Amino acid sequence: MIFYKLSEDLRDEIKHLRASGKRIGFVPTMGALHQVHVSLIQASTSTCDVTVCSIFVNPSQFNNPEDLKHYPRTLASDLELLTGFKNILVYAPDEVNDVYKTDEDFAIELGNIGMVMEASFRPGHFNGVMNVVKRLFDIVTPDITFFGQKDFQQCLVVNELIRHYKLPVQLQICPIAREEDGLAMSSRNVRLSPAERAIAPAIYKALLHAKEQVPQLSPAEVKKQVLNELKSYPGLLPEYIEISETEHLLPVESWHDARNIVACITVKLGAVRLIDNIILK
Ligand code: PAJ
Repeated sequence: MIFYKLSEDLRDEIKHLRASGKRIGFVPTMGALHQVHVSLIQASTSTCDVTVCSIFVNPSQFNNPEDLKHYPRTLASDLELLTGFKNILVYAPDEVNDVYKTDEDFAIELGNIGMVMEASFRPGHFNGVMNVVKRLFDIVTPDITFFGQKDFQQCLVVNELIRHYKLPVQLQICPIAREEDGLAMSSRNVRLSPAERAIAPAIYKALLHAKEQVPQLSPAEVKKQVLNELKSYPGLLPEYIEISETEHLLPVESWHDARNIVACITVKLGAVRLIDNIILK
């Protein structure tokens, strides 16, 4: 593992690697690394010669300043976790300006994807994601980039970004990593109280029940069933559940409306916001 604080140094190394024909994989993260990030890195190391992992808490994607303030910053243990890996370059800038050298705005018009679900509950969030991902892509120039399906809408946003700027990078979406009881892994899970942690697997259970009801119940009925199921848990407050086609996230009224359909859910469990999704067909 080699650690870079300065994008210019990383760019130089990448130029050198490219000249020798190396295939570069890229895993962007905001740090607080755990098993999930390691599995994304492993997905990259298994197909690429060199993997770049960025660790950067991007201020522009936080719509809530308190969330940014409390976001875990654990660089020392993050680096420790990656020391054993071969052919890994870690980019963890000290300064926001090392990524944001200009204030050029790379956010693009996203249509429906930019209006629904996370976009409507976290205004400005995806503009921040697009700006940082475009800048990181420009520094790393990856052949393949690895993102998690857990942030389904983020994957679609990155896909649009790649299409819009005609970037020569392939997006690989990796499956959702779950705890044994089904809860989607997240650095936020540690903030759940023991009682909340015991309730949290109900989210994935409700999604699995939703999938079992396809196609017997209509999408509207499935949504209602999920909400009723989750309502029975104290302190669990669904923000949204949407059943949508997987390209533009347009809601579906019938299972025949689209070839691929996803159920996306976000709940508040006490003070913690949890997100999950399942492909229904
Ligand atoms: P971060 O939250 O650190 O997530 C890094 C990557 O891990 C993302 O691609 C995310 O979708 C993936 N991930 C998180 N939990 C997962 C799980 N349980 N299963 C599978 N993948 C999971 O997402 C971001 O950072 C930022 O928005 C970023 C893309 C780095 C831009 O700042």
